[in-house]
Amino acid sequence: MNYAEIQYILLKFDSYRETKFGTIRISAFDPDNIIFRRDFKMIKEKLDEIRAAARKRIEGSLDLEKLNAARVDFLGKKGELTAVLKGMKDVAAEDRPKVGQMVNELREEIERSLEETKKRLESAAMEAAMAKETIDVTLPAKRRPMGHRHPNQIALEEMERIFIGLGYEVVEGPEVEKDYYNFEALNIPADHPAKDEQDTFYINGEMLLRTQTSGAQVHEMEKGRLPIRMISPGRVYRSDEVDATHSPVFHQVEGLLIDEQVTFSDLKGTLTQFAKELFGADTRVKFRPHHFPFTEPSAEMDVSCFKCGGKGCRFCKGEGWIEILGCGMVHPHVLEMSKIDPLKYKGFAFGVGLERIALLKYEIDDMRLMYENDVRFLSQF
Ligand code: DAH
Repeated sequence: MNYAEIQYILLKFDSYRETKFGTIRISAFDPDNIIFRRDFKMIKEKLDEIRAAARKRIEGSLDLEKLNAARVDFLGKKGELTAVLKGMKDVAAEDRPKVGQMVNELREEIERSLEETKKRLESAAMEAAMAKETIDVTLPAKRRPMGHRHPNQIALEEMERIFIGLGYEVVEGPEVEKDYYNFEALNIPADHPAKDEQDTFYINGEMLLRTQTSGAQVHEMEKGRLPIRMISPGRVYRSDEVDATHSPVFHQVEGLLIDEQVTFSDLKGTLTQFAKELFGADTRVKFRPHHFPFTEPSAEMDVSCFKCGGKGCRFCKGEGWIEILGCGMVHPHVLEMSKIDPLKYKGFAFGVGLERIALLKYEIDDMRLMYENDVRFLSQF
């Protein structure tokens, strides 16, 4: 008998058994079935099956969550490959190293494939996120509508700039004022007819909403710091009906200069300079005698119409001149009441209606527009 014949006879004594890996042959040389001789080919087939299934699952995993589930199903504690390893005890001792090597190779292969797919999915996710979050830097930015200075404020800052340039400081006086500062100390005693001209909002017998900024002169003089060079802008109140040129609330800018040896020429020079800076270097000025109780002599200053240059037009109502302020030399009695020696000190004062300047400068024909807060109007300045 040759070897093949012996093998053939022996094979006849072998029996077969069904296991979870398929049918396995039990060697006739192992009658106690201590070693379940696993068919090597069968394990190989099983591993190929797992390989194909794993490849399909991994390739079909469209996100990281599904990929992780595949990892658990194939490599996890209860995974398919682990089941094969657990079955190693059923493998013939001489086949174990080989089977072990095959299982390890497959494990490495699956791990590699999982890792590659993971990287691919991550970079795809990153690219998708970047594509979604792309910023078009060439798009114009969203702008919040921004407000800007009111024409009144623009005119005020222009006036402040001019007077600060002449060495004046800007001070503020109270809007709720004592009768004394608004009238009395400005040479307008209780029975003075000038008081009737200013329809006043009284709070009580003594307090009122100031009708003019001139009271700021008195506050400044009372401080006792001389010389004085100040302007004082602010809100004033008069019981007036609203129309194109009147409002119960409006603004004035007061001016006061006190020093030794101040003359009417200083007043004229200062206010001429002011008018030229505000309305243009060609502007001419004219002083007309007037009366204010707190100045003596007093005047009103007109500027040549900057629209027609003085020839007369609709803007200046054919006059060629436009009145812009009241002024005068501070009355000695006013100085005295504020404890300033009128023999040593002289001064001049002036008062400008702020709205009037803004209306002229921006050629606005109705004062009501200034208070309506209509952005179509305001955005023009
Ligand atoms: N206070 C005056 C008014 O409201 C304006 C004025 C005129 C102020 C002459 C002055 C001045 O300081 O000297 O009509």
